Amino acid sequence: MAMKIGVIGGSGIYDIPGLEEARWQAVETPWGAPSDEVLTGRLDGIEMVFLPRHGRGHVHSPTAVPYRANIDALKRLGVTDVISVSACGSFREEMAPGDFVVVDQFIDRTFAREKSFFGTGGVAHVSVAHPTCARLSAACVSAALDAGITVHDGGTYLAMEGPQFSTLAESRMYRAWGADVIGMTNMPEAKLAREAELCYASVAMVTDYDCWHPEHDNVDVAAVIATLTGNAEKARNLVGRLPGLLGSARAACPHGCDHALEHAMITAPDK
Ligand code: ADE
Repeated sequence: MAMKIGVIGGSGIYDIPGLEEARWQAVETPWGAPSDEVLTGRLDGIEMVFLPRHGRGHVHSPTAVPYRANIDALKRLGVTDVISVSACGSFREEMAPGDFVVVDQFIDRTFAREKSFFGTGGVAHVSVAHPTCARLSAACVSAALDAGITVHDGGTYLAMEGPQFSTLAESRMYRAWGADVIGMTNMPEAKLAREAELCYASVAMVTDYDCWHPEHDNVDVAAVIATLTGNAEKARNLVGRLPGLLGSARAACPHGCDHALEHAMITAPDK
């Protein structure tokens, strides 16, 4: 099977030098329109698809992002491996603004989003015990190291609903729960990618210390944007190295991401 890499991320990361035959195209899905058109092209001989999660111009709030349409659109285009690139706050001193965290666990505290492709016309319960793909995550860590980025291999991402940032009591509680970083967008994206039998890895870029840190200002949008702007080139550099690391011939996922539904359907076959 041919590798096809999907990247869901913010502005600035799809501006990759060397992307051949790049063109924006609209995709329709049964779940409605994705966040925006997708940018398709070829990098180092590997097909790539970029999807701006919030839409160009940042028009969708984290709650309003059409997560099901986004994952469905990537699946429809033949994407095999999805890399999420997003901003996050940090609950750990050592995960400093500017660092990248290749997340491997989630605590899902979102509550106002459609979280499954199943529920009408078929019920499935997929395992998300290990919600990210270890093979794809390892490639992201290598790409980050090659690009000279300070990267943390593994971390627990608390997904909050937003759009407001956390209260101090919440921030302290999430730290006590063992969360390492916090963001508003990786859920239900990761769960839906698993339902769609796509490998999924999450590269979370630390922009702030949320509001728990006594020696740092409480997070605000200006701080997030300032760090993100500095991070865009790093993120592009990381993504640009992935085709070389992953290669064009894709072996079946050793962790089973690509047949996640095999033991997940509970609806009787004749229904
Ligand atoms: N995205 C970037 N920083 C964040 C924070 N502190 N909380 C939630 N989402 C974020």
